[in-house]
Formats: sequence, structure tokens, C-alpha cells
Amino acid sequence: MSFRLQPPAPARPNRCQLFGPGSNTKLFEKMASSAADVINIDLEDSVAPTDKDIARKNTIEAINDVDWGNKYLSVRINGLDSPFWYRDVVDLLENAGDRLDQIMIPKAGNASDIYAVDALVTSIEAAKARSKPISFEAIIETSAGISHVEEIAAASPRMQALSLGAADFAASMGMATTGIGGTQENYYMHRAGEKYWSDPWHWAQAAIVAACRTHGLLPVDGPFGDFSDDDGFRAQALRSATLGMVGKWAIHPKQIALANEIFTPSDEAVTEAREILQAMEDAKARGEGATTYKGRLVDIASIKQAEVIVKMADMIAAN
Ligand code: COA
Ligand code: MG
Repeated sequence: MSFRLQPPAPARPNRCQLFGPGSNTKLFEKMASSAADVINIDLEDSVAPTDKDIARKNTIEAINDVDWGNKYLSVRINGLDSPFWYRDVVDLLENAGDRLDQIMIPKAGNASDIYAVDALVTSIEAAKARSKPISFEAIIETSAGISHVEEIAAASPRMQALSLGAADFAASMGMATTGIGGTQENYYMHRAGEKYWSDPWHWAQAAIVAACRTHGLLPVDGPFGDFSDDDGFRAQALRSATLGMVGKWAIHPKQIALANEIFTPSDEAVTEAREILQAMEDAKARGEGATTYKGRLVDIASIKQAEVIVKMADMIAAN
């Protein structure tokens, strides 16, 4: 093991990130009163090119005027391949008050993309004497992004989270899919006349989790497009949680409760984790490094696994 300790991720709940277009002002109050931990007002792909200026203006007004309670407030700017992103950053940083917590950078391809936004943000923060530094979340949604995911995670002390953007990712990779996340009809194993569906997002998710955990960021699963399919959302989110992701986007309000449910450790899971910690305390008192809990091995690694669940539950309860 490296002598360097794994840095902790930011200690804030990030179970659900609710998106809404900056052009749709009637959604802002509804987003603010929702049960999502994080709000992402979008200036990018849910806003038509002709609406970019008005969406930016609406967003700044909403940041300053709406009561966002204790939500973590983030704005998704346009991509660095667009003619819009610099204006997004300048107008937001110059005109939105300190209630703005974060800028989300879409289609990040390498560490220099983050550096470019960081340079602009840092200069404006200094010029305007902004008291609260803006944090960054980046979306991994291109072949370049996944190839450079670790350097993106490490690119700036502002970095707090990475999300997988399944639709753009699939397009960039040339994947033969049109669905946004979830089961893909043609991705299956075959045996004795039966199909067994496999998970085409697994590798990208695991790579994002590894990069995030290495650099102390929150790994997040992105959108699930079919908001009529609760079971599909639940299955995707459960897989993400099992792999180490802490939350998932909602692109419709009905996905918020599902995400909160799945990314909040259940009472049974927390009870079991506390019992494992107690069993290991008792073992330690007997001078043992390993013991038996409900007929299975638990050892010092089990303490770390149990602590992940207990810490998450404590943090959510404290919020
Ligand atoms: N946040 C808060 N409330 C929302 C919402 C959102 N993202 N999307 C819909 N609602 C509200 C609607 O205003 C409506 O409220 P009402 O009951 O008071 O009238 C209610 O939820 C039901 O909405 P519904 O009619 O089912 O959906 P819609 O047709 O109004 O909108 C979408 C559907 C997909 C266009 C809309 O949900 C949306 O814009 N989602 C976000 C898209 C986005 O940001 N994409 C970028 C990230 S991938
Ligand atoms: Mg995208």
C-alpha cells in the first residue's frame, strides 16, 4: 500500500442531483423545494443555442433571488468546444452572489480543460473579491474524458465530483445505443437458449470511481433518460451504489425519491455495519484480527467497509 492516505471526499450528501434548463424559469422554485441534495441549473444541452443568453440571465437572477435552502447549488456551463462557455463563467462569477457553490464542466477531455476554467474563475474571484471559492464538478462523457479521467480528477483543488454522462459518452465511443443509461438490448451473454444482460456502463463507472477515490472526489452516476421506467432507474442506481458511486442525477422530479432511497444506507445496512464494528471491537479485546459474524469472516478490512456505511448514514443524518 502507498504510504499516502486516500483523501476523503467532500463531506456533503450528494444522493441526487436535480437538473433543469436555465431557460425554464417556472421550474426554479420547484427545484428549490425538492428533496434533491444538489441542484444543477443547465446552460448546456437542454438549452437551445438561441436561448443561451436569456438562460444565463435567468440563472443569475434565480441564484440571487430564489431561496435555495441548504441545497448545493451548481450551474452546468457550456462545453469548451462552444462559443458560449467563457461568457457563462464571466457572467456567473461577476454577477451571481455567493449562493452559487459550483460550476459543472461538461465534456471534460483532459486536465487542461479544467485548468482553463480554473484560470478564468480564479482571476474573476480575485477581481470581484468573491469570498467563497467556487468548486468544480466535471462530466466524463467522451472517449478523451474516460482516457484521462485520473488527470481530470487531479486537475484542480476546486474539483469535488465527477459524473458519468451516459448519452454523450455512448455517442463519443461510437456505441451502438440510443438509450440514456440502463440495460442495452444487444449487450448480453448467451447460454443454452437464454440471454443474460450485462452492463455496458460498468467499465466507465469503475474507472470514474477509482479516479474519484484516488483524489478525494465524489463519484456520481449521470442521467437515466426513461423517466417512466422506475424499475430500470432503480436497477441502474443500485449497480452504481454497489460500485461505490454516491448518487445519481434526476432529470425528472419522480426520480428524486428513487435516488434518495437507493443512496441512503438502509436501517438494516447501518445496523449490520454497526454490529460488524462491534464484533471487531470484541475481537480486538481478545487479541484477534479476524472473527466470525453471522457465519462469515470479518477482519480489519471489514471495519473499513462498515465505516463507509456508518459514516455515510451519520453525514446524511447530520445534514
Ligand atoms: N425540476 C423540477 N420540477 C420539474 C422538472 C424538473 N427538472 N421537470 C418537470 N417538473 C415539474 C413540472 O413542472 C410539473 O409540475 P406541475 O405538476 O406543477 O405542473 C411536474 O414536474 C410534472 O412534469 P411533467 O409534465 O411530467 O414533465 P414535463 O413535460 O413538464 O417536463 C422534461 C419533462 C423532461 C422536459 C423536464 O422534466 C425537464 O426539463 N427535465 C430536465 C432536463 C435537463 O435538465 N436535462 C439536462 C441534463 S441531462
Ligand atoms: Mg452531455
